[in-house]
Amino acid sequence: MELAIVAGSGNPPLADAIADRLGSKVCRSTISRFPDTELHVEINDTVRGCDVYLIQPTGPTADAHLMELLFLADASRRAGAARVTAIVPYLGYARQDRRAKGREAVGARVSADLLGTANLARMVAVDLHTVSLEGFFSMPLEHLSAVSLLANTLGELIEEHSVIVAPDLGAVKLAENYAEVLRRPLAIVHKIRLSGEEVRAQSIVGEVAGRAPVIVDDMISTGGTIEAAATALLTAGCLPKIVVVASHALMVGPANRRLSALPLKRIVVTDSLQLSGNSSLPLQVVSLAPMLAETIARLNIGESIAEFLGHR
Ligand code: R5P
Repeated sequence: MELAIVAGSGNPPLADAIADRLGSKVCRSTISRFPDTELHVEINDTVRGCDVYLIQPTGPTADAHLMELLFLADASRRAGAARVTAIVPYLGYARQDRRAKGREAVGARVSADLLGTANLARMVAVDLHTVSLEGFFSMPLEHLSAVSLLANTLGELIEEHSVIVAPDLGAVKLAENYAEVLRRPLAIVHKIRLSGEEVRAQSIVGEVAGRAPVIVDDMISTGGTIEAAATALLTAGCLPKIVVVASHALMVGPANRRLSALPLKRIVVTDSLQLSGNSSLPLQVVSLAPMLAETIARLNIGESIAEFLGHR
């Protein structure tokens, strides 16, 4: 079936890179807002009879990007696409997967239900905040992991005395995966979240004194988690050469300021989200394009993608 790549405004460079690897081009589309702020979406190339792949992370601005994805799916279907698959390199709202307090909405469920109305054949996501999110979707969800990709680029950044650090309890499984691939011991920071921007590190489990920490997390948002973990590690006697590895770089609010103040050797992230490009941080960006392009190529011809399902 003929393949067509359609992209929202979430990460055009990644969409271009994926299309490029597939020997294709992103379909032309118009995404605009009416004066009253309502979204308007139109796909300008024909997708009739095509196997359409919509590339759209639902990161900041989360609502706008989610809505674009829903509109693009609808536009594709109405334009006669034979099959529509959403490639969501970063899935927003994933942290709202349960109620922490009495009268909160479960945002992950709301957004999953919305995506469930879009008549998608399947969705492909990368390093979901929690693996159990798959159960929020009734459509098939292929959950890819960037752990091997990121771990394999660390090279000489991993020292004999490196220790892999989970900056909170939610990151323990991810950190175990890195510790296994990198063959280094694991330490865990006990984090308490005070608000959306503020966290506090309570204690550390594991041997960290005299070691070079590699802090791993699924995402960096405001940088509060990394800041709290790094500060606690330094107080506990870690070497002041910290490596941070995260699948998703949201980098919102005070993230740049917070991370700039830390003795970071490198921050290794993927391009699941479009980065501003004017950061003075020691950022190394690893592209998801090869992995996502290969996944699309295999889905298009109905071949197994099991070897890409890297999360353990
Ligand atoms: C939390 O459970 C996540 O895994 C991240 O640790 C967190 O969301 C990062 O946010 P921030 O950078 O704002 O601390």
